Amino acid sequence: MQNFSIHIPTKIIFGEGLLNEFVKSSKILGKKALILIGGGTVEKLGYLQPVRDAFEKEGVSTVLFSGVEPNPQVRTINKAAQFAKNEKIDFIIAFGGGSVIDAAKGIAILLHEKTDDIWQYVLGSPKAGQYSGAFPVVAIPTTAATASEVTPHSVISNDEVNGKASLSNPLLRPVVSLLDPTYTKSLNARTTQDGAADIFSHVIENYLLGGNDSPIADRYSEMVMLTVLETLPKLLKDLQNIKLRGDLFWASDLALNGYQTAGRTPAPFVLHSMEHAASGFYPSLAHGRGLATLYPAYFRWLLEKGRAVDRMAKLALRLFGIENSNEQIAALNFIEKFENWLKENSLYQSFPDLGVMPEKYEAIADYTIEVYGKGKAIQVLGDFTKEDIIEIFYNTEK
Ligand code: NZQ
Ligand code: ZN
Repeated sequence: MQNFSIHIPTKIIFGEGLLNEFVKSSKILGKKALILIGGGTVEKLGYLQPVRDAFEKEGVSTVLFSGVEPNPQVRTINKAAQFAKNEKIDFIIAFGGGSVIDAAKGIAILLHEKTDDIWQYVLGSPKAGQYSGAFPVVAIPTTAATASEVTPHSVISNDEVNGKASLSNPLLRPVVSLLDPTYTKSLNARTTQDGAADIFSHVIENYLLGGNDSPIADRYSEMVMLTVLETLPKLLKDLQNIKLRGDLFWASDLALNGYQTAGRTPAPFVLHSMEHAASGFYPSLAHGRGLATLYPAYFRWLLEKGRAVDRMAKLALRLFGIENSNEQIAALNFIEKFENWLKENSLYQSFPDLGVMPEKYEAIADYTIEVYGKGKAIQVLGDFTKEDIIEIFYNTEK
């Protein structure tokens, strides 16, 4: 086991009918809040007004900003921050998917820094990470996917420069998060699949590259992966099932709260780097869908290069019960089994199927290296170059 430190200050309130507890835990943050939502789903479903009423009842007035798009855009975040500044709010209530929560974190930075452009602080920019605080954010997530409600990350997009990059800082962890599975019941099959693919990625990225030092991190990550593998197929047959929704929701937070990598070697989020770059060029590409598309091609690339073969072999046994003393064969068995799972759950497609076209592969690969590799080959148990990335993109087509 390697050394680590974890501090997760977010109070998590999990379950149905706990809105009042959430409001009571949040109201210490001030008397006026910005409530931030996406394209209007929570309003249409009738979820918004009860939340506003509950805050008003506890003496917190709310002002609404709606229209945060999936893959939240810099211009929207800047505009919402200006609105929040004029309204002199004390804290932000993010009510929506990961995009809304990430946008709230961006707004929170701008309000603290008294500046007006969030793009200056993202990874890859000269002032990356150079902010000293953020207004408090509380979150009501409505997707089981990103875990933004507990993470120190925010991932934002800028379609003017084909960019998608992160802001990461412990200051960005929400103060309180309400995980009520009721709010996720309305997710359609496709968005549910996207979320499941994202949850899986948050544990497998480091599982493959982080080494063997922590048997507990391995077992913990396997628990999350097995929960996703078992829950998604059942949920797709019964989308409104509140118990299954709750299982996936909790798995999403456990997947990226920090425990999943504790005791292992830190390693880059390779699938994420490639997917974020692709979504930067194609803002309509959903994060989880992009990851699902890259999985088989990336795993096969690892196998071909002889990297993380032992780890994939371990997953063959731990996730699918396949034992083989030949690690190459076991790793291949894992990949094939996982591909079948993707196919059975409508998560198997190529980049061109999603409108991500070969003529953009080189530019996306350049962005991946430039921003996520800080201009150098990313280390994936060895060099990971622009050419490797392009090869993986083409391999999604096989
Ligand atoms: O905009 P609305 O109307 O709310 O509709 C959304 C949106 O169209 C809809 N939706 C959300 N909750 C719903 C619902 N529809 C019906 N019922 C509900 N309960 O779903 C669509 C997608 O929403 P979005 O927030 O974009 O999805 P997700 O939660 O997957 O968030 C994706 C974003 O988070 C980033 C991704 O890169 C992407 O930008 N990530 C953030 C991370 C973090 N902060 O730690 C880590 C992740 O790895 C990820 O990168
Ligand atoms: Zn992710």
